[in-house]
Amino acid sequence: MNKKEDFSIGIAGLGTVGTATIKLLEKEIYNINKKAGKEIKIVAVSANNFSKERDIDISKYEWEENPEKLATRDDIDAVVELIGGSDGIAKKLAFSCVQNKKFFITANKALIAKHGYDLNKKILKIDKGIYYEAAVAGAIPIINGIKNGLISNNIYDIEAILNGTCNYILSDMTNNGSSFKESLIKAKKLGFAEADPTFDIEGIDSAHKLAILGMLAYGVKPDLNKIHIEGITSISAEDIKYVKRIGYVIKLFCIAKLDNNKLDFRVHPSLISESSIPASINGALNAVFIKGDYSNMITFIGEGAGADPTASSVVSDIINACRNNNFKQDISFLSPGLKYTDISSRKGKYYIRFIVKDIAGVLASITTIINNNDISLDSVIQDSNKGEEFSYIIILTHETNELNVKNAINDINNLDTLIIEPQLIRVENI
Ligand SMILES: NC(=O)c1ccc[n+]([C@@H]2O[C@H](COP(=O)([O-])OP(=O)(O)OC[C@H]3O[C@@H](n4cnc5c(N)ncnc54)[C@H](OP(=O)(O)O)[C@@H]3O)[C@@H](O)[C@H]2O)c1
Repeated sequence: MNKKEDFSIGIAGLGTVGTATIKLLEKEIYNINKKAGKEIKIVAVSANNFSKERDIDISKYEWEENPEKLATRDDIDAVVELIGGSDGIAKKLAFSCVQNKKFFITANKALIAKHGYDLNKKILKIDKGIYYEAAVAGAIPIINGIKNGLISNNIYDIEAILNGTCNYILSDMTNNGSSFKESLIKAKKLGFAEADPTFDIEGIDSAHKLAILGMLAYGVKPDLNKIHIEGITSISAEDIKYVKRIGYVIKLFCIAKLDNNKLDFRVHPSLISESSIPASINGALNAVFIKGDYSNMITFIGEGAGADPTASSVVSDIINACRNNNFKQDISFLSPGLKYTDISSRKGKYYIRFIVKDIAGVLASITTIINNNDISLDSVIQDSNKGEEFSYIIILTHETNELNVKNAINDINNLDTLIIEPQLIRVENI
């Protein structure tokens, strides 16, 4: 049985984040205990394979073969889940902790995006909390920022760069003129991309994180089907080159707005003015730009993943749980019944890149269709490649409706001068 002045934890998952969390706790335990006001003790650990070689000594902790048992042990106050996955063991541990009135701490965005709303509702009835600062934007205290620092505000706009892999790849393409494939290979070599980067480069990881921020800011149950999600795999070196020429950079932008009582949640590549703050967020960094009606815009920038930055948030959560800083918030009352808008009702500027046969009249045929769809043009570039039979046409529109743009592209797709489907990227003002 744990002593009253102890705060005993069980850690499930000893991979990148689990190992870094234990290292941080072991190295800083003197200061951590002073800040926590109790002695934080790791009582038991669990992972998949007991015999695996690890660069921490786990022999001083009890090994729990079945991680689910951590949630039912009398000698454990808090379970730290660092396994991953939206369901399976992570979900069982989370709900079992709530049922057994234990603190639950996790870095698992997939779990919180899917079950965080229900978990948040359940903990309102008990005196223990769930903590997931590490699930969004690594070391950046954005969950605490929304739940506490900005709680006096009505938040109406969140724009963010939430995936370090994508931001690294797009920054590398911008700085070195490389292709998407070349930058992805480099990102893997340097540890900025996983062996299977699908979740990152297809925008799913960003959508999970955006769903969590949207849940906290607006009180809506996360629903990935309501988020328009596009990844970065179609961005070419030419797109990067042409947007530079017109004063922009490309970022994978996550947007969660509340506008006219409608929710507008999107993840997609975006043209951002090269003189804006988000354009300067390079490499694996994350950034969140959040607007409240009294705070105005607040900017958070920092390391969004990796062992130490993530462990920094996990251990902060452990200390906050120990102090029983619950930060509970009844999010369900915030925005009852709000509806989502569809991407087709977006209004804004658009970059459209065409690759066409290099013959007379092709530009006129495209601009005629654009004009016929009530779209006015901000700028046009026609770039012929010497010795090639194709040319690039780049169009930047003035503000218009997405529906008009989609209709124009449908018409242009019928032109036999078009070589491949046009590339469409939205321009975001921040
Ligand atoms: N890595 C990051 O930079 C980062 C950043 C933010 C959030 N996160 C989140 O943190 C969590 C952990 O990520 P990670 O990168 O540390 O993952 P990881 O390196 O793959 O580690 C996963 C751990 O879970 C254990 N595990 C897997 N299946 C298990 C099972 N069935 N039963 C018990 N243990 C099992 C593994 O055991 P073995 O060691 O025995 O194989 C391993 O220790 C995920 O939710 C992730 O999304 C990660």
